[in-house]
Amino acid sequence: IPVESFDLVIFGGTGDLARRKILPGLYRRFLAGQMPKDARIIGAARSELDDDGFRALIRESIEEFVPEKKRKPKTVDAFLAQLHYTPIDAKGSGGWETLAKLVRKDVVQAFYFSVGPSLFGDLATRLHKHKIATPDSRIVVEKPFGRDLESAKALNAVLADSFDEHQIYRIDHYLGKETVQNLMAVRFANMLFEPLWNAQYIDHVQITVAETVGVGGRGGYYDKSGAMRDMIQNHLMQLLCLTAMEPPSRFDPDAVRDEKLKVIRALDPVPSENIVRGQYAADKDQASYIEHSENPASKTESFIAMKVDISNWRWKGTPFYLRTGKRLKGRMSEIVVQFKDVPHSIFEEDAGSKANVLAIRLQPDEGMDLRVTIKEPGPGGMRLVDVPLDMTFADALGPEGADVPDAYERLIMDVIRGNQTLFMRGDEVEAAWAWTDPIIEGWQNRGDKPVQYEPGTTGPEDALMLLHRDGRRWREIK
Ligand code: BG6
Repeated sequence: IPVESFDLVIFGGTGDLARRKILPGLYRRFLAGQMPKDARIIGAARSELDDDGFRALIRESIEEFVPEKKRKPKTVDAFLAQLHYTPIDAKGSGGWETLAKLVRKDVVQAFYFSVGPSLFGDLATRLHKHKIATPDSRIVVEKPFGRDLESAKALNAVLADSFDEHQIYRIDHYLGKETVQNLMAVRFANMLFEPLWNAQYIDHVQITVAETVGVGGRGGYYDKSGAMRDMIQNHLMQLLCLTAMEPPSRFDPDAVRDEKLKVIRALDPVPSENIVRGQYAADKDQASYIEHSENPASKTESFIAMKVDISNWRWKGTPFYLRTGKRLKGRMSEIVVQFKDVPHSIFEEDAGSKANVLAIRLQPDEGMDLRVTIKEPGPGGMRLVDVPLDMTFADALGPEGADVPDAYERLIMDVIRGNQTLFMRGDEVEAAWAWTDPIIEGWQNRGDKPVQYEPGTTGPEDALMLLHRDGRRWREIK
């Protein structure tokens, strides 16, 4: 479905995120016929480029980040023709009058702040001063949205000086992932799961985001952040919220975000014995975390595993185990819902029964896998075996199932449509920091150091123990 015509201004339009994600994503939407012919994408950054210079730069990024079979020269040319560029001085006055003349008032206007948070205030005030923004304009901001509650509040306040909450789109790209949205469809469009979705029937939930890459190249940023700020406070928190929230009464932005906020506010503080932090060591051809971060005294974690309790009626007694790390054995993100054993087995003790598991895979091979127990075929008596009811979307839905849009494509189009459901509200971000801050402060006050772990493994041994001591085990990282 095509969206309304728009002018999308990308501040930081020559930067890494714009070249890797935003513009290739927009190109794919163009290819899908979703971009109106007169829609315009306007790059704005410090570099003294003109339209053609910007188009040449983006042609390169499409060549690098879009698969060849999707790059017909005529289509790429047609897309690039909708691109424009104007140099801008975010902290001064240069370029703003030109931008004011360029941006149309009679179409949807969106301003993507693909720049560091220290420039948010400068951009927001100049958009107003130069009468570019209207009460209907949208602004898009990226993580990191603050590094603690105080800085997040300050950013919210700076944005609120110039824009209403309904105009602010805070991106967490995990919310744009197809399977994350599918989690809501599975929970709220089936009768099968929701009656069982509580502490009475679910033993525990595991959320894993494992990566094989290290932090090489962005060690400076990462060392000030660590896995807690970089991944848990936002991406894993969002996955936890969507898994744990009450059914909203409607699929509308505030109804969904109200329910997520309630989950965050119900999270218990996490005692230090329920957290394991790690730093990857070197292996034969790759540097260690310490070398990548260029900080020999670094106490920042590149791995974290934690047990999180939610104090509400639905979840009391069912822990959520979160785990994420760099330089692990595989790239795998999934949410695993481990059901309880049947209350009484009518079969022989050694028949071998296993509790049901629902695994929702975000990457790779997006899909779901429900494990059910059946009788092992054959005449050998009642032997039980658990088998997967596997639904890899690519297999179940054919080629269209395999052609999963990138998170950014979906989210940018939602901005143009004016749909905030998959974006974080200001109070949600603040609540997430309010829960995160005391955990990080505890490490700092005690001078806690992460333990070293071997690259290519599942992380520190202690992370395995975190579940073993509760009589549970992590799903394998493949
Ligand atoms: C980013 C983090 O937000 O998400 C990175 O800053 C991380 O450290 C990335 O690698 C993971 O995203 P994805 O989509 O590759 O799982």
